[in-house]
Parts: sequence; C-alpha cells; structure tokens
Amino acid sequence: MDAARVDNPYAGAGVYVNPEWSAHAAAEPGGSAVAGQPTAVWLDRIAAIQGGPGAMGLRAHLDAAVTQAAGRPFVVQLVIYDLPGRDCAALASNGELGPTELGRYKSEFIDPIAAALADPAYAGLRIVNTIEIDSLPNLVTNAGGTATATPQCDTMKANGNYVNGVGYALAKLGAVPNVYNYIDAGHHGWLGWDSNLDPSVQLLHQAATSSGSTVANVQGFVVNTANYSALKEPNFTIDDSVNGTSVRQSKWVDWNRYVDELSYAQAFRQRAVAAGFDAGVGMLIDTSRNGWGGSARPAGPGARTSVDSYVDGGRIDRRFQSGNWCNQSGAGLGERPAAAPQPGVDAYVWVKPPGESDGASSQIANDEGKGFDRMCDPTYTGNARNGNQMSGALPNSPLAGHWFSAQFQELLRNAYPPLGGSGGGDTTAPTAPTALRSTAVTSSGVSLAWAAATDNVGVTGYDVYRGGVQIGSTTGTSYADSGLTASTAYSYAVRARDAAGNASALSTALVVSTSAGSGGGGGNAGCAATYTVSSDWGAGFNADVTVTNTGSAATTSWKVTWTWAGNQQVTNLWNGGLTQAGRAVTVVNAGYNGALAPGGTAGFGFGASYSGANPAPTLTCTAG
Ligand code: BGC
Repeated sequence: MDAARVDNPYAGAGVYVNPEWSAHAAAEPGGSAVAGQPTAVWLDRIAAIQGGPGAMGLRAHLDAAVTQAAGRPFVVQLVIYDLPGRDCAALASNGELGPTELGRYKSEFIDPIAAALADPAYAGLRIVNTIEIDSLPNLVTNAGGTATATPQCDTMKANGNYVNGVGYALAKLGAVPNVYNYIDAGHHGWLGWDSNLDPSVQLLHQAATSSGSTVANVQGFVVNTANYSALKEPNFTIDDSVNGTSVRQSKWVDWNRYVDELSYAQAFRQRAVAAGFDAGVGMLIDTSRNGWGGSARPAGPGARTSVDSYVDGGRIDRRFQSGNWCNQSGAGLGERPAAAPQPGVDAYVWVKPPGESDGASSQIANDEGKGFDRMCDPTYTGNARNGNQMSGALPNSPLAGHWFSAQFQELLRNAYPPLGGSGGGDTTAPTAPTALRSTAVTSSGVSLAWAAATDNVGVTGYDVYRGGVQIGSTTGTSYADSGLTASTAYSYAVRARDAAGNASALSTALVVSTSAGSGGGGGNAGCAATYTVSSDWGAGFNADVTVTNTGSAATTSWKVTWTWAGNQQVTNLWNGGLTQAGRAVTVVNAGYNGALAPGGTAGFGFGASYSGANPAPTLTCTAG
C-alpha cells in the first residue's frame, strides 16, 4: 500500500485553500494579499467531523479539495486534535474529552475520520495529517516530577492515553494509502535542549509503535505548529562566540542546542531516522506566524560587547522568552507555504491559520471545554515554563480558534518576507546584505550565508558574485559555490533584489581560501580561514577571522598568514598569537584553540590602524 505514496506529498502538488479561513482573511483590510494561501483544516472536536450550520465538515472540505484539485496532484492538510485530556500543560485549548476517554476518542473521533478519508472519492488526494499538537512533547517536559510538571500532564503520562491515542490515530489513518501522517515534534525553544531531544524522539517512536501502529505509518514530523519560533535567526548561529563565550551561554539561548526551527527540524529528522523511523521521513515547519518583520526587526548582528548584547541585539524573535506561545505581540506572517524549500524539509506550511486566536486574554464562558490560561493575559508575569517572564500576549483576545482581527492585522504588518505588491513604480533599492560569512569550506567548494536584506516592497532574491563576476542567484540567504581550486583565495560579495527589480549595493566582500587538497593516507589536517571586517571607522578597523579544519584529521595547531596591501598595523589581537613584520602578519593558535576536530572552527579577532584604502587581504591557513 505504501507504493501509492510519494516521498514528499507537497512536491509538484497544489495545496487546499480552506474557503472558511480564506473568507475571514479576505474580509480584513489588506487580507486579500494572503487569502489565497493554503491553511490546515483543524478537526478539533467530534462535531467538526460533521460540521454544522455555517461550518464545513470534513467531507465538505474533502469535496471542495477534489474540486480545487481539478485533476492535479493535490494536498489537503488536516490537524487531528482531540486527544483525551488535551492540552495538559495549558488551559486555553483544553478539549471536550476527559483524561480517561480514550474509548470515545477512538470510536467517535478517529474511526469516523478514517472512514471518510478511505472513501474512494478522495483516493486521488494526498491527505496530510498533523497528529495531536503538543501532546507527546508535553509528556517530555511537563510531566513526571519535573519543576515544570502539571497534574494533568502527570495523569496523561501515567495513564498512557496520549501515547496510545497517537498510536491508534497513526494506525487507523495510516491504513488509508493516500494518507501522510506527520507527528507533532514541538519546536526548538521547547525540545531543543539535549535533555529533551532524544527523550522526545524515543517517545514519538514508542507512540508510533503502539496500539497496532508501526513506523511505516509515519511520513514525518511537524515543528513549530501554532508557535512563533523563527525559521532562521540570520544574525547569529549556535557556533558563534563573543569574547570566548558561546552563544549557548546567552540568556536567550540558555544552553539550547539550536537557535532556530530550520536547524532544529533538520537535526530532529536525523535523530528520528537514527532511532528507527523510515529514512524517507520529512519535516514540515509551520511558518504561519514566525516572520518577525516590521520596524523592530534587527538589520544586523548585535554589539559584540557581551554575548547577551550580541544575541539580544541581533535576534529577530522578539519574544520575552522562547516558551511564550499565546498571541505574541510583534509577530508577523512567516515564509509563505512552499514545497521542498530546504534539505529534509517537505514543506513550509501554515498549520495554524493566521488570525485565529491561541486563547482568550480573560475568562470567557464557552461550551468548547476551553479554559482561561494566563499565558494569554498580557499582564501575566509567567511561570516555570516560561522562565517567569511576561507573557507577551496581545490584549483583548477571543477564545482559542476564534477570529482575532487585531492579531491578523499585526501579522500582516509584521510579515517577513514582507507582503510585496507588484512593486510597480517602486524605485527604492533594498539594503545591501550584511554578515556575509562562510559556513563550510573544502578544497573545492565554499558555502556562504548572509543576513537577509530589507526592502519596502520585499526582497525577492540575491545575486552572488565571485571575483566581481556574478556566478549565481538564489531566493534564500545561502549559496554553495563549487568547482574551485585547492589552496586558493576567492573574494565573494552578494547583492539583494526586490519585487520591482531594484538591486542593492554589493555587500562587504568576504575573502575565503579553499583548503589544501587531500593528502590521502592516514587523514590530512587542512584548514581554511575567512576574514570579516566587523567595523571600520576610516582610521582603524576591527576584523574577525574564522579558522576551519577542512581536513579529515584533527589539528593540534594552526597558523594564518597574510600580507597587507597598505600600512595596516595590528594594534591588539585576541584568541591567537601575533607577529607582524612590516606588511607580513602571522597569527598562530592560542594554547587553548589549536586542537580542532574535522569540521571544527576557532576564531580570533583584532583591531588595527591604517590610512588610505583597506582591501581585505588574502589569507593562507596551515594546519599541524
Ligand atoms: C484551538 C482550536 C482551533 C485551532 C486553530 C487551537 O488553539 O484550540 O479550537 O481550531 O487552534 O485555530
């Protein structure tokens, strides 16, 4: 039966536009810019299967999907969301089934959904299910005697009804050949710590092999559902350090292993495969509300005065704390839904329909089982699960799932990428890309990354230059150059283009030296060095050099040399040992950073004085 499935259901397929959400969006000022985007259909209660007066049921959606498909490959996205004891660590989305009602979950919720999906009328659709948001992650961090545990999560862990419910849903829905199941895997700001990641993978595997299910019923995992974690933090990486202090030690990152959803999703996929899930599993990332654009978006890295100023000044995620989840103030629409946007990622998706509330900001009587969670109250000062920070929620929000016009308007305003018009008549060029850096260097290739540029009508892409000649273009903020010569210095720059066709100035140039070719035999210890000017005030400048072990053996020492074109004089240097004789500079490793595993990096920095021109020198790196 798996033969009917393709590896990535989104590849080459249209995706269902939910007419109900689309109508809400289109009715908002400016909403027509996104009303045609696909969003998921949430089956969040038994009654949602039938629908009711004024509300489409499951079959109505599937019928509409068949019509929209018009014979094309076509995805319809469903959220399976009605576990017993639902939303055990919060109150805003508590559901209709009590903690012990697993029997009703199976017979009144999953079984009728499975029956509808198996209808031959829908056999031509690719039905993507995201399975039970937040449930298994809650058992990892919010149950079992931890400081963040809640009584309801303790109950759900002890009675096994989340694990067995998810297993049953996977088995029943996965028996339909054109169904693709993606299990919820939290987000980096929840499960990205070493102590949480593997236990999460193990628990998902346990669920996937319970209640008659096998891992063959799992096509992948979905991260960041209904959350706000940034897809990519453009201005720092987990490997950066400031004055010898790692980004991991900043207050914001707090020893997490990941700084954003893309790196987390790709790592999660690898760990899941290692734990026994199919090698073909793919990730979905909910980018509906993680755009973080608008005027508060940092244009570049924060000041390198401390690791906290560097991270806090550069991070695009403006939340008080990454555990905040309810109607976050300052958020914007994220990447538009897209198929196969990155390796290992099946799609960027909008699972949480933008404009639908995460929860009410004050108590509202209702018949949906929903409670009042103070994380949705903007005056709340937090609890152990968000580090006792302010909630960051917008005021005056309605019940979870209900339309929240003010939030939708804010998401439009802060969209990133921005919502470009056609750009007709626009003559404003984008800002030049910043923070151009190399992320990998070999003897024949260089991988580049840079911070996104900004523009009034939206940046649509980047042109990459080598030695002053354009060598390629990309819509992302990274580029891999290949076919290069070993032990050779190349100078790169990047410019941004906008929706109206305007181009920015070129970025500051980055000189990268490829490593020496492989020596063969017992492994070689090649290295490469990249040079970036972090500030230049005309009479002096600061620069950072990153040394990467590009060989296959560990280094014990390294040496970087270059010759200045002019009268540059290094005045102080940190994290290395300096010799300057005339124009010739030699920097050797410090006692503590000479040993680099293959792929490992070390950095040093310096300040220098000069007059006249200040072109980047060509660096040569030698490893011992
Ligand atoms: C609510 C659901 C709703 C979903 C999508 C959840 O927080 O609990 O009722 O369907 O969000 O907006």
